[in-house]
Amino acid sequence: MDDIILSASILSADFAHLANEIAQAEAAGVDWLHIDVMDGHFVPNITMGPFIVETCRRVSSLPLDVHLMIEKPERYVEAFIRAGANYVSVHVEGNPNIHRTLQTIRSLGAKAGIVLNPGTPACAISALLPAVDFILVMTVNPGYSGQSFLPESVAKISEIKMMLEQYHSTALIQVDGGINTETLPLAYQAGARIFVAATAIFKHPQGIQEGVKSLRTAVK
Ligand code: DX5
Ligand code: ZN
Repeated sequence: MDDIILSASILSADFAHLANEIAQAEAAGVDWLHIDVMDGHFVPNITMGPFIVETCRRVSSLPLDVHLMIEKPERYVEAFIRAGANYVSVHVEGNPNIHRTLQTIRSLGAKAGIVLNPGTPACAISALLPAVDFILVMTVNPGYSGQSFLPESVAKISEIKMMLEQYHSTALIQVDGGINTETLPLAYQAGARIFVAATAIFKHPQGIQEGVKSLRTAVK
């Protein structure tokens, strides 16, 4: 489909050959690179910081989609945008001044996204809609790649889609977690247009190119 944006999560890439894996994903036609930032507090895992974003910026001209799974994200948004982030998403959970953080992201020239964990209801973000360019609905609990898509996410995507129409918002819905050729069409039909995938791209048994192609053609 032409109206889907594929964001390849480098969390499942082979970091011993990161530039090569990114080049393969880019050649296969992914639209964005998704960079999962985890601090060992907001989520149990620890992953990457601005240094890796800067590394991706040097080896690729694709938009960089930085997903911050960290406590007090306001401390780091500027560092990530300076490192090359074009899209920065922050979680609604545990962030009392999230509206200001979203404003800061935009004021620094990046697109702002709000993220909801599976346990967070759609209504938690209604007051934030004017401040966001995209909404990331987590379709797994954040922390690791390779988990299974939570089917109950589909109803939440539909609910957010309706909310966007009601508020005349043009924000796009992004989904992240367990996206593969079976789950992508479910999320698409519910209203998602940006699809993050790690395992289905970087760990596809027939290689990165086949992984991207199969996702791109998953919606008929
Ligand atoms: C999970 C991360 C995801 C993860 C997706 O916390 O936010 O971006 O890399 O991995 P897959 O596509 O394997 O579910
Ligand atoms: Zn992510």
